[in-house]
Amino acid sequence: MEHKTRIKGNVHYVGVNDRTKHRFESMWPLPYGVSYNSYLIDDEMVALVDTVDICYFEVYLRKIKQVIGERPINYLIINHMEPDHSGSLRLIKQHYPDIVIVGNKQTFGMIEGFYGVTGEQYLVKDGDFLALGHHKLRFYMTPMVHWPETMMTFDETDGVLFSGDGFGCFGTIDGGFLDTKMNVDKYWDEMVRYYSNIVGKYGSPVQKALQKLGGLPISAICSTHGPVWTENIAKVIGIYDRLSRYDADEGVVIVYGSMYGNTEQMAEAIAEELSAQGIKNIVMHNVTKSHPSYIIADIFRYKGLIIGSPTYSNQIFPEVDAVLSKILLREVKGRYLGYFGSFAWAGAAVKRLAEFAEKSKFELIGDPVEMKMAMKELTYTQSENLARAMADRLKKDRKNNE
Ligand code: FEO
Repeated sequence: MEHKTRIKGNVHYVGVNDRTKHRFESMWPLPYGVSYNSYLIDDEMVALVDTVDICYFEVYLRKIKQVIGERPINYLIINHMEPDHSGSLRLIKQHYPDIVIVGNKQTFGMIEGFYGVTGEQYLVKDGDFLALGHHKLRFYMTPMVHWPETMMTFDETDGVLFSGDGFGCFGTIDGGFLDTKMNVDKYWDEMVRYYSNIVGKYGSPVQKALQKLGGLPISAICSTHGPVWTENIAKVIGIYDRLSRYDADEGVVIVYGSMYGNTEQMAEAIAEELSAQGIKNIVMHNVTKSHPSYIIADIFRYKGLIIGSPTYSNQIFPEVDAVLSKILLREVKGRYLGYFGSFAWAGAAVKRLAEFAEKSKFELIGDPVEMKMAMKELTYTQSENLARAMADRLKKDRKNNE
């Protein structure tokens, strides 16, 4: 019988879907759910690559047994220790007590710390090798894609890259897991949101990993989240490469808070002028409506960023502040920044935005606009001037790129 789990040769998909969880890492909404992917190489020696969230162990074990029946698993390769992947490690060890865990020095420290699991280990370093019979595996250390112990496993026999979180995306696997056998449209935006929020801080480690993997004859990317990529490999690597260089499209994200709509009118005036100046990609996010994960994704997508905030209890509006800290945490680079704010009796928002501008090291565009209470003729003029300065800066790049 042909296994529905087969990716190619003896490599099988044994991952599970999570359509229950509302927020990944308790923070990031999952409108399309998320998959926890695990893979089984059914060779003379059987190897399991990563596990799944512990909540899905029963389903997971059944999938494994559908492929190998009651045969033992010889190796459990742990590419990444975050519990969405290592969560079933202790139960796998209970079901397969003789399994040898494959990982690097940091992996084993975490296995002991998280799960108290000991036993036979196969300790690997960068470039080390493991033969399963027909399949020959090589290990590549890719620290901080997404945790320090992160590594990738390359099956040199079939060109399959088991990449951990690298090249992953949100969204469950609905039926087929191969990109050739499914409509993959929903994954592209979810890849940007996944990358920017989960891995976004680690642009430089991702670049190092891409350099290390460059030149490998990859025929399939098996990441821990989302589809198995075969016909979209260049596109997927391209997205990760671009995002990890903080490269972005022409466009402006306007992020603002507004309690009674006055600050929002500044945002509207800026957006209208940007449009009048020929900027087509304008995304407006009211921080109390848009979840920050979508705001962060758009900031990774577009080069221009304009942030606005009212003053609240002599501070910046707290929901705007939360977005600022998320931008700084991810060490986003190379954005053009403009900002505006408002107050009724004592201004604080613009001062706080000035501090953010300094910390972010973004290129400051135009003059900050500060409004007292409500829009005046002067506020319209100043807002339009800020928008024109941003449009001019973007159009200068457009010209240079022609
Ligand atoms: Fe999907 Fe970093 O774990």
